[in-house]
This record gives sequence, C-alpha cells and structure tokens, in this order.
Amino acid sequence: MLVAATVTLSLGATPASATGHGHGGAGTPGAPGVGDGYFPAAGNGGYDVLHYGLEIRYEPTSRAFAGVATVSARATDRLSRFNLDLRGFEVRSVTVDGRAARYDRDGQELRISPKYGLSRGERFTVVVRYDGTTGRPTDIEGALYGWVSTPDGSFVANEPEGASTWYPVNDHPTDKASYDFRITVPAGKTAVANGELVEQRTKNGWTTFVWRARDPMASYLSTASVGDYDLRRSTGPRGLPIIDAVDRDLGPDAADGLARTREMIEYFSDLFGRYPFTSYGAIVDDDEDAGYALETQTRPIYSGPPSEGTVAHELAHQWYGNSVSPARWQEIWLNEGFASYAEWLWEEHSGGRTAQARFDTNYARPETASFWNPPPGDPGATNLFAGSVYTKGAMTLHALRTKIGDKAFFALLRSWYSANRDGTVTTADFVRLAEKVSKRQLDGFFQTWLYTPGKPTAW
Ligand code: ARG
Ligand code: ZN
Repeated sequence: MLVAATVTLSLGATPASATGHGHGGAGTPGAPGVGDGYFPAAGNGGYDVLHYGLEIRYEPTSRAFAGVATVSARATDRLSRFNLDLRGFEVRSVTVDGRAARYDRDGQELRISPKYGLSRGERFTVVVRYDGTTGRPTDIEGALYGWVSTPDGSFVANEPEGASTWYPVNDHPTDKASYDFRITVPAGKTAVANGELVEQRTKNGWTTFVWRARDPMASYLSTASVGDYDLRRSTGPRGLPIIDAVDRDLGPDAADGLARTREMIEYFSDLFGRYPFTSYGAIVDDDEDAGYALETQTRPIYSGPPSEGTVAHELAHQWYGNSVSPARWQEIWLNEGFASYAEWLWEEHSGGRTAQARFDTNYARPETASFWNPPPGDPGATNLFAGSVYTKGAMTLHALRTKIGDKAFFALLRSWYSANRDGTVTTADFVRLAEKVSKRQLDGFFQTWLYTPGKPTAW
C-alpha cells in the first residue's frame, strides 16, 4: 500500500484494470529504485504491493533455504517491465498472473518482463521460486542484518534494506503491505513472524507455522526468526493478544525486561493514542551477538535478554516508526529520536530519572564532544544509527517541549500519530504540524537542532 497521494492516483486509474491482460501496450520499464537519496536502489518504481505471501522452508544445520514468494501488486504506471529487490539465491522461476515471465538479475535487482505489459491500475500477482544457502549478511555500516543464520536457527531483522536478503520485495517503507508467512522448519524448532499464529502443524518431521500480519507493514519490519523458542501467550489492554517467543536455552530471568509490557502499552496508549496493531509480543534470542534490538512490527526482536528501557524503546516504535514511518531514510530521527524520548518518558513515569534530568546530563557534554554529530536530520547513509540520531534526536523533542509547553507538545505527539497512521512522513511534515499546534514559527529551532552540526547554544 502506498501513501495517500499515490493511492488517489491508483484509484483514479482503476477503470484501466477492467481492460485486463494484453491491453497494457508496450509501456515503459519501472524504475530500479523509489528515489531514496540514501539508498538509491531500495524499492522500485511503477507498482504498489498490496500483499506478500511468503512460503519458506529452512533447515538451520545446513542453512538450506527454499522460498516461494507470492507478491500481489497494482501497477501505478503502464509497465513493460518491473523490478523486485532480491540478493543472493538461485531464482528457479517467475510467473506473472500464472504465465512464465522472463527475468534476469543485476546486483540486488530482479528484473521481470511479464508476457504482456501491465496497464496502469491493473492488479497482478508475481510468484517467485528461489532457493539457496543463507549466511550472515551485513549492511553498509558493517552491522548484521537481513536473514542472519544463527547456530540454532535465524535472527531476522532488516533495517534499513535487508528484507531482500530473504524474499523478493519492493524494499522501501513507502510501500507498506499485509503479509502471510508459512514457514516450515525441522520439528522441535519454532518459527516466529509478525502478527498472529493462525496454524501450526507437524508432519514427517517438519513443522509448519503460519503467521498472519494484516496491518500495513514496511518491509524492514518483517521478520521470520527460527530458533528453540517457547511461545508464551498473555493479554494486554483491551484484550490485545501478546505472544512472546523466548529461547529455551536462556536462564529463568531472560524475560524480566518484558514484565511490564502491559503497563507500558497502557501508558503509551494514553500518551500517543491507541496501540496501532492487532497483536504484540517479543522475540528473545540467545545469539551471542548481544545488544541488537529491532522494533519488528508487532514483535520486536532482541538478540539477548533486553533491559526494560530497550523494551520501552521498541514498543514506542510501534507508533513512531512502524505506524508513522519515514518516507525516506534520511528521516530516521523521526524513528529513533521519538523512541528514545519515549524511553525517557517511561523511565520518569516509573519513578526513575526525569526527562529533564536526562536532557541536562546530555546537554552538559562539551561542545567538542563527538556526541553532537552528525546532525540527526541528515546523518548520512552510513550513520543512520549514530548516537546523535537517538540522543540529540530525543533532546530535540525535549527542547521543543520546553519551548512550546506540555499541553501543545503532547497534543502534537498525539496528532502526529493520528494524522499519519499507516503512512509515511518527512521532517517537513512534522515541522508544519508543530507550528500549527503551537502557533509558533519553528524553522529556526529545527534548523539548529536537526541540521546544524555541533552543540546548540541558543534556540
Ligand atoms: N532501529 C533499531 C533500534 O531501535 C536499531 C537498529 C540498529 N541497526 C543497525 N544496523 N545498527 O534501536
Ligand atoms: Zn530505535
């Protein structure tokens, strides 16, 4: 699903779909990227994915992986050809609407030429069969991401563009879609994905787990982690299903950081608005590569037992990052600054340091500290997860709060969420809303905090 403007475009073109196959004419090739300045090859042009059906068979010891991806989409242009992002694997076949399609590979691009061109507005279904042996892919910062094979399974966390290491995808947050996962693993292993477990069946030594995620989701937030997990079910506020997956090999205190999850959901729902999705829960792995956490939608993943602060952080991302998502990767502070500030708010709420105290401690750092750079509003592709994006980003929100007052600030947080649910946003959108809610001129303020290198001295 695309953001509002593009949806309007597709709807306007709906009659074209009635013309069916063979009337698309020659069309033109879809672009190999959506035009993200930080990741030019991420995503693709010319269509909008509505749904991914991912069928995966994975054997952790040999790391043998076989997939069948069914991608349902709608053309937003008249297309002779289009791309999906896919790295590695052998592609065995591609069909479009049941007919064999020609395809070739170029880096992370899988280029597909359907037998007939696609009309603007036409719905189509692509089925890609692929297989191979998985490894431990890394992003441009050298951090593990994507389908990361672990000794007992896989740790799957894709931010920013690692989804293409395990399925053919329009890999950019501007194209959200619903997902179904059908994951088959050796009996005794557990496969955990986003959403709810709708089926689990063991036959001939293999267990198939079917997970369904109905809410629109950005590809970087998808997961299908495999391991020695116990599934634990509980209930959150308003009957929200909570499904946690905790590695059996961890000690009895592995889930301590999760203990206040229900309270946290209540607190953030009061503050930001109703919890965005159909379920929640955590995946707690026993990968020795500790310290990695990702806010995978409805089900954050932790490489080891998380602290309470980290759990608050990943929960807050469900509103800021997952429901309200960055329209381009440059806007990463809208994820990390917000989730970090939410972590401060939770700590104050639960009787610890106040947000003001945390702001003050950080502000006391010398002008010369590397802490102040890069500017969170434009950190560069290799610094998406720099400390300043998190902490200077959180400080930006606290400074804004003291400037416009609590009433306007918390009203702003709420409308930022309610106005942009399931959508994608830019910092310019946030500045506009902040000015509207506070009735203040704030360009200079945001220029200082988000785009100017170094320590802010006046704002
Ligand atoms: N978004 C994750 C978080 O909430 C961080 C992902 C870190 N990724 C990385 N490549 N370092 O903290
Ligand atoms: Zn984060």
